[in-house]
Order: sequence, then C-alpha cells, then structure tokens
Amino acid sequence: AIERTLSIIKPDAVAKNVIGKIYDRFESAGLKIVASRMAHLSQNEAEQFYGVHKDRPFFKDLVSFMISGPVMIQVLQGEGAIAKNRDLMGATDPKKAEKGTIRADFADSIDANAVHGSDAPETAAVEVAFFFPGMNVFNR
Ligand code: CMP
Repeated sequence: AIERTLSIIKPDAVAKNVIGKIYDRFESAGLKIVASRMAHLSQNEAEQFYGVHKDRPFFKDLVSFMISGPVMIQVLQGEGAIAKNRDLMGATDPKKAEKGTIRADFADSIDANAVHGSDAPETAAVEVAFFFPGMNVFNR
C-alpha cells in the first residue's frame, strides 16, 4: 500500500552537510518527499515527540542531542514507505547497520545516528501530524 512516514535528519547529519545525499537515497528508492521543513526543536517539542521513550535510560541524552542543532524534517510517501525507509536507514546502532545504509555511511553513534524514521503505521500517523498539519502535506 502507499504509505507516509515521518523522517528526521538529525543534528549530526545536518552539521555534516549531507541533507542532499540523504534526500537522494530516499528519491532513488522511489520515496517522494511530500513535505519538509528545517527546525531547531525546543526541549518541549523533543520531549513530546519522543514521549514513548520517556522512561528509557537514554531519554535525557536523546532529547539533549535532538535540540543540539537544527534538524530537517520530512514526510516520505510511497509503496511500503515505512519499511522502505527503515531499510534505507539501517539498524539504530550504526555499528550494527548494514553496509550501504544511511546510518552505516553517515552516523557515528547510537545517539548521533543521522536519521529517525517512524516504525509502524500508527506511529507514522501520529508523527506526521505532530510536525505537519494536513494542509502542509503536498500529495501529488
Ligand atoms: P530514533 O529512531 O530517533 O528513536 C529513538 C532514539 O533513541 C534512537 O533513534 C536512538 O538515536 C536513541 N537511542 C539511544 N540509545 C538507544 C537504545 N539503547 N535503544 C534505542 N534507541 C536508543
């Protein structure tokens, strides 16, 4: 099915100047960028966005990393977009990410891991709505 997923290029990858290289991975895999914006998240926004992780030991470090610099946020649309994006990203820990994946090529650590991608249809819907009210998604 045609799906939408939320993708974030994290502060480490923005600082490395590889937004375009990562966008090329999405487009070359047949995913269409139907919304995008750059933002420097507030602590509040980052805590809300990662609310499902609030009891995890890495929550504080995750939030402080995500607000350490600007991020590029986009909605990707296409056939099986959620799984396709996760394949393109590779494993959360770049040391475990398969060769040729975004994290293997651009990430340094499990925190500075270059990209975020929604993990399921339910979370994708919530995450897309969190950053992009409906009329800011361009479906054509
Ligand atoms: P992300 O897909 O953005 O979702 C939560 C983030 O927490 C994850 O990527 C990692 O960058 C970060 N993180 C740090 N430590 C861990 C861990 N042990 N397990 C999962 N995620 C972690």
